[in-house]
Amino acid sequence: EKLLVIDTDCGIDDAQAILVALAAPHVRVLAATCVFGNASVDDVCQNVLRVLAVGQREQIPVFRGSAGPLLGTAGTDTPCDHFGTDGLGDVFKDKDPQWEAKIRREHAVSAMVRLVAENPAQVTLVALGPLTNLALAARLDPSFPGKLKKLYIMGGNMEGKGNVSLCAEFNFAMDPEAAYVVLEEFLCPTYMATWEYACRNALSWDFFEELTSQDTAASRFMKTATSRCWAYSQEALSKKRGLHFGAGFVSFDSYAVAACVDAGVVAESVRCPVRVELQGAMCRGMMVLDRVGRLKKQHSVTVFTKCNKDRLARLLLESLRQPPGS
Ligand code: BDR
Ligand code: CA
Repeated sequence: EKLLVIDTDCGIDDAQAILVALAAPHVRVLAATCVFGNASVDDVCQNVLRVLAVGQREQIPVFRGSAGPLLGTAGTDTPCDHFGTDGLGDVFKDKDPQWEAKIRREHAVSAMVRLVAENPAQVTLVALGPLTNLALAARLDPSFPGKLKKLYIMGGNMEGKGNVSLCAEFNFAMDPEAAYVVLEEFLCPTYMATWEYACRNALSWDFFEELTSQDTAASRFMKTATSRCWAYSQEALSKKRGLHFGAGFVSFDSYAVAACVDAGVVAESVRCPVRVELQGAMCRGMMVLDRVGRLKKQHSVTVFTKCNKDRLARLLLESLRQPPGS
């Protein structure tokens, strides 16, 4: 059995990715820890509760974490436009007035440190948002990174292509210092689904139709949540605004979770040291791959380059056959 802690800034793709984890056999999700990103951390907490309710797994504890980056306030007031201001497309009007009582009192960073200390070398951490909680966990307990079994990250870039800035991917751009700390100090086996990897391995819009037309609660939930982002992608396509969702259906965070629950989803990868650029007018937050050993770093990470798309598609389809039996 794999023990997972999922750190998330729960937008629409995080929601899909969490459902992939919930549906996976031999996987136990110990906790969801929340971080700002696609929306405010309060909205993120509510989104995670909603996803767990859809999957009928409300017993999984949810913890509130960082409301902003390690330095400054960058990003906290600029939620991702295609996920709406609440992260789930601004389409769900039935807000739960009791949501705060359902969030555990312990801070997400403390919870992460505690859960990993209770299960040394057994917990795999999957990071789907800005890496602020992870960096703080390492500061709170320097032995934390060394006690992880594995770390999966959706974030960064491998060819200098950004989505929110010229060179930086959203999760890294929201907190470059946190991404830097994690990639310098987390020396556990680390696997990365970058922005370009996800975009290059997009699924078809026909598949998206099939995925969101299943007669289950989870499929209906994703259809509703994605209604706005589908319109956004069509608009991008018509204005030739490039890759965002236009190249096909890309559920970014699902690429990291899918690889975590089924290693066969990754067809090819490269191993090398990486570092995050913290300076620069154009390149702050960009991840750089060191293929020639110039950084003289001992630690290499695995950067995915090619996906087994059929296998990914199967996991996504199965993830929306929830709750079990629906
Ligand atoms: C990443 O940023 C967020 O918008 C998504 O949820 C994903 O984690 C993609 O760059
Ligand atoms: Ca995310």
